[in-house]
Amino acid sequence: MYIVRLLFIIGMLSVSLGTPAYAVQLAIACGAEGQEFKICKEGAEAWAYQTGNTVTFLSSPNSSSEKLALYQQFLAAQDASVDVFQIDVIWLGILRRHFMDLKPYVPESVLGGHFPNLIANNTVDGHLIAMPWFVDAGLLYYRQDLLEKYHRPVPNTWEELEETAHTIQEGERKDGNPKFWGFVWQGRAFEGLTCNALEWVESFGGGSIVEPDGKISINNPQAVKALQTAASWINTISPKGVLNYSEEETRGVFQSGNAAFMRNWPYVWQLIQSGDSPVKDKVGIAILPAGSEHGKHIATLGGWELGVSKYSRHPKEAIDLVLYLTSAPEQKRRAIAGTFNPTIMALYQNREILQTMPFLSSLYEVFANAGVRPSTVTGKKYNQVSSGFWNAVHETLSGSQDAASSLRLLETRLDRISHHEEWEHTNGK
Ligand code: GLC
Repeated sequence: MYIVRLLFIIGMLSVSLGTPAYAVQLAIACGAEGQEFKICKEGAEAWAYQTGNTVTFLSSPNSSSEKLALYQQFLAAQDASVDVFQIDVIWLGILRRHFMDLKPYVPESVLGGHFPNLIANNTVDGHLIAMPWFVDAGLLYYRQDLLEKYHRPVPNTWEELEETAHTIQEGERKDGNPKFWGFVWQGRAFEGLTCNALEWVESFGGGSIVEPDGKISINNPQAVKALQTAASWINTISPKGVLNYSEEETRGVFQSGNAAFMRNWPYVWQLIQSGDSPVKDKVGIAILPAGSEHGKHIATLGGWELGVSKYSRHPKEAIDLVLYLTSAPEQKRRAIAGTFNPTIMALYQNREILQTMPFLSSLYEVFANAGVRPSTVTGKKYNQVSSGFWNAVHETLSGSQDAASSLRLLETRLDRISHHEEWEHTNGK
């Protein structure tokens, strides 16, 4: 196991400032190979350069669910070889016992600059388990040029999206692109599917799986309708392959010009607007469709935090690195370089950031109406709840179980999990 974990550790950078006597070597887990990793590495290298320490990097899998499994191996073994971990916004209850309380080290003026709901999310039993790093919300990416070509508005409801996706798909196939699809999204059985499906279910008025008071609400007619709607997209406006897509596969199809609509997170904007992207300057961003004309538009709230492992041998330096990486200048750099949404409120008025992310100011409203996954109420049971949900949804999408039966069985399953050990209203005390 140790060897397996060790194999993930890649790249060590050395510091060009003379190495002071107190210099330490830290390791950080902050992303999969690609843009996220590169931008984190640049930040950590800048910190190392300034402080005279060195940093090594743990390259993690892309999928949030696989990251959790890997990090849990390190943490369960109380392994000191990784000091700083990126933490998904839904993992605080699951991982809290492995992370230091950062509260004594973060000045009030710094804390007060972040979105208060993120600070609240990251505070478990009065302990600040992690610092907010960036915030995510599900977005609808659309091909502006194709909406113009087919004289269609940005869809307001899922039904309108279906119709428009269908029209564009038919048209583009006739025009010579047999690989063209209407709508791509994350349908693989993993945390990303929970995010997508929560957006459908909540926008149809079907609740949030488990409500903040602990009530299991998922077995209801609106949720059934939402899942039936999504299942009807498979092989009509969405390729069967979406059942195995995470964020990056989805981006691949859309960015190569083979889809009219895509559901994805904000980081994608920087990549589809980059120099060699075939869809550069052809794409717009909107809030995801509502379940009905006057229904709700829901974006699942996502995002990542940085925390210091309790098993770190260099907590002082590790805290310093976390404070550096989550600071305003670094969040600004990351917003411009990779369209990662800041967690510091003042940056939403920053002119340079707004130039890179013109949609940022309108995201304020998206965040305000964001769909929150039930991680606070279910605490350390969250991953069991979420995997139960994503599997039930996946079975419906792949046609192996109808929506009503899937959700009925899921309800029974969640009921068992909640009774076995009551929902942990205080994040798993
Ligand atoms: C994004 C979100 C994260 C979510 C994940 C699911 O990384 O920021 O919160 O769990 O996607 O794939």
